[in-house]
This record gives sequence, C-alpha cells and structure tokens, in this order.
Amino acid sequence: MSVRLFEEKEHASNYKKFRIEPQEEIINLIFSYLNERLPKPHGLAVDVGCGTGQSTRILSPYFQKVLGTDISEAQIEEAKKVPGSPNVTYSACPAEELPVGDASVDLLTASAAVHWFNIEKFLKEVDRILKPRGCLAFFSYLPRLEVHYKDCSEQMSQVFSDVFSILGRYQHERINLVRTGYKEIFEAIPYSDKIRVESIVTKIPMSLSALIGLIQTLAMFQTYLRTEPEKAMEMIRTVEQRSLQIMGASSTETVVEVWFYNVLVLACKPQ
Ligand SMILES: C[S@@+](CC[C@H](N)C(=O)[O-])C[C@H]1O[C@@H](n2cnc3c(N)ncnc32)[C@H](O)[C@@H]1O
Repeated sequence: MSVRLFEEKEHASNYKKFRIEPQEEIINLIFSYLNERLPKPHGLAVDVGCGTGQSTRILSPYFQKVLGTDISEAQIEEAKKVPGSPNVTYSACPAEELPVGDASVDLLTASAAVHWFNIEKFLKEVDRILKPRGCLAFFSYLPRLEVHYKDCSEQMSQVFSDVFSILGRYQHERINLVRTGYKEIFEAIPYSDKIRVESIVTKIPMSLSALIGLIQTLAMFQTYLRTEPEKAMEMIRTVEQRSLQIMGASSTETVVEVWFYNVLVLACKPQ
C-alpha cells in the first residue's frame, strides 16, 4: 500500500517555503555513480514524489528533460508555480504508474519519498522505465538532527531532540524504513549493482524560523496537529522560546547550522 499524507493546499504551500533542496554532497555521489555507468549526455530524469519540486529543479542542468511526479495535486500545483527551467515538467500521478515509456529513463530519483510508496509495485515500475544501465537514487534525511550555534550546540540539539521524542508518538510506521537507513528497500531492489551509503552529514545554515517551519512540514507534526492542535502549537511556541533563550537571541531570523543525517541508495539496471 502507498500512504497519502501530503494532500492539503496549506501543507503544500508550506512545503514550497520550508523544504530544503538535496545538498551537493548527495548530488555529487549520484552523478559520479550515474556517469560511471551511463555516458553523457543524459536524456530523461524522473523525480518521483517530487513534492513542490525542490528535488526536481536541481536536476535540470544535467538532463535534456526532467519530469517531476507526485500523487498530490496540491503539491504539483505549487511546483508548477515556481518559475523554472523550460526542460522541467510536472505530472500528478502515483509512483506506481508513471507516465513514461519503457526503457526511457536515465536516472530516477526519489527524495524523502520512496518510503511512502507501495515498494513492490514501484520497483516493478522503475524496472519498466529505466534504460539498460539507467540508475535509481533513493535518499532521505533521517528523523533526527543537530543544531549548532556558538557554544550552545549541545543545548540547542537537545531542544530539537525533545521535539522528535514528542513527534515520535505520531510517527507513521513507514518512517521506520528511514530510521533503519532504507535497508529493507535496498534489499528489495532486484539489481546486483547497488550500494547503500549511510551517515552522509549535510550542514545547512538556516534561520531558526526556517528550521521551525521545516519541522511543521513533517508528516508526524501534521498528524500531531490534526490530533491535538493546541498541544502541537504550544510545542512550537515552546521550541521557539527555549531556543531564543539558549542562544541569547531576540530574533527568530538568527541563523543556526543544522546538521542532517542522510541515507542514499543507488542502483543500476543491468544491460
Ligand atoms: C516528504 S515529501 C518529499 C518531497 C520532495 N521530494 C522533497 O525532497 O522535499 C513526500 C512526497 O511523496 C508523495 N507521495 C507519497 N506517496 C506517493 C505515491 N504513492 N506516489 C507518488 N507520490 C507520493 C507525497 O505526496 C509527498 O509530496
């Protein structure tokens, strides 16, 4: 079964505002893997579960065409509003039924998304559309992070660790696939040329308000908000106040460095 938790318009618009682009470290690993297996120039990339397109648009310089797909109409609507490169298009459709021809795709990506799909059906669809020697890249950040700021990184990280402890109760069981570093998904990929890279740390400077905004886009926060709206908003206010107090700052525009822990799975379809 696939899982649908990203359908509301407001959620989609917050997504566009707060979700982060895949970082250079991950993109470089993907392209060195792809380029070793499939010579340039690259034709078509498909980014599945693209949300509002953060993970799609970054592919545009490397391919003749890029297609971003998502099951949520609201997410695709937001993605289309971003002025972008002419070679990027979007389509609302399930990951398990992609609107592309057999053996036509050089690279298929899924950023923070594959764990929501029906894995068995999706992997069959991936096999149908990848070219021989075409590659797949599934990656995600894990549900934990560190927040670094001057000499109070430990206290700041504790604030956000407490947030993840609270949100853990509202976590969908599919997040266990992420927590375990996509091990299960990796094992289900029917290709022998495959690797799983864990503990890729990406360090991203962002304002406290952007970090708190990002937390609010998480599916587990959305579930908390639906179940106990007052408590969920109270948690957000508390995080903001505790953080400002610890940092000795007065503005939520104060910039912190957030360390994300990522997993990346790469595989290549045989000739
Ligand atoms: C956490 S978001 C990731 C968005 C974006 N790739 C990013 O990196 O920020 C997961 C996305 O997967 C989509 N999704 C979930 N199940 C899906 C399915 N079966 N088919 C296609 N998209 C799906 C959701 O609508 C959501 O936009």
